[in-house]
Amino acid sequence: MMGCHPMASCLSLTLTLFLYQLDVCVSDSHHEECPESCFCTEGINSGLVVHCSSMHLTAVPRDLPNTTQHLYLDNNLLLTIPSDAFKGLPLLFKLDLSHNRLVGLEHGAFRDLADSLRSLDLSSNLLETLDPGAFGDLRAQTNLSQNRWLCDCRLQLAMPQLLLDPSSLAEVMCNSSEPQELGAQGLPFILVATDLDFCATIRRTTDVAMLITMFGWFTMVISYLVYYIRHNQEDAIRHLEYLKSLPNRQGRYEEALTLNTWL
Ligand SMILES: *[C@@H]1O[C@H](CO)[C@@H](O)[C@H](O)[C@H]1NC(C)=O
Ligand SMILES: *[C@@H]1O[C@H](CO)[C@@H](O)[C@H](O)[C@H]1NC(C)=O
Ligand SMILES: *[C@@H]1O[C@H](CO)[C@@H](O)[C@H](O)[C@H]1NC(C)=O
Repeated sequence: MMGCHPMASCLSLTLTLFLYQLDVCVSDSHHEECPESCFCTEGINSGLVVHCSSMHLTAVPRDLPNTTQHLYLDNNLLLTIPSDAFKGLPLLFKLDLSHNRLVGLEHGAFRDLADSLRSLDLSSNLLETLDPGAFGDLRAQTNLSQNRWLCDCRLQLAMPQLLLDPSSLAEVMCNSSEPQELGAQGLPFILVATDLDFCATIRRTTDVAMLITMFGWFTMVISYLVYYIRHNQEDAIRHLEYLKSLPNRQGRYEEALTLNTWL
């Protein structure tokens, strides 16, 4: 058995010998074996084509052989691609993730494949937006058709940061748009985005919100000032009247006079 090194995890000597006889290894690095839920065929230069299509998979298999060149994960139940899901696969150049239920791709999902991957199929999923961080420096030809693209400011800001093969982005067809009145539905995002500014309304809304907040603060300060002046005036008048009610006291009378002129 070639892929089984007598590693520490292969336990004691006798057990190792026994396992070698059975042609089974319990060590954790099955790096040249096919994952349980897939079958493998030979690719070019002793690489592997790993077929895991239609296996009801809810997660990317973790024990993929490091010689994998093509990986078919289409028609499964994947919801997301976690960060570093394809680590340690330096020969992988074709990856099919179509017909899953992908709603998102985590930051760093494909970053380990930047040097090798040439073709990525993400078609027929439930993706609404693209996070440039998921792709890293990936330059692969990427099929993005048949998703739920929400054409909005976020997508507009993400597009220029994507290094993907430029023809990939032509397949982003808007299933809905935000703001809706821009009428991007059913059109390729790349076409509409050259004429329309999806971020304009957001900027305008922010400006209005700022203005309202500032006006609110201003009103509060003014009301407080008015209240403060009124309140003190009443106090002063009350004080004055009290002093006037004691006219026979010389000192008090003078004080009242000064207060009167002061007011
Ligand atoms: C795969 O891993 C084995 C050892 O686990 C190593 O000898 C081999 O060079 C690796 N192959 C590639 C293509 O990285
Ligand atoms: C992208 O995927 C769709 C649907 O799966 C398919 O019809 C289309 O031919 C693909 N486009 C490319 C360029 O491979
Ligand atoms: C587009 O969005 C609507 C809901 O807004 C949904 O019913 C429909 O399936 C979506 N189309 C695609 C191709 O995802």
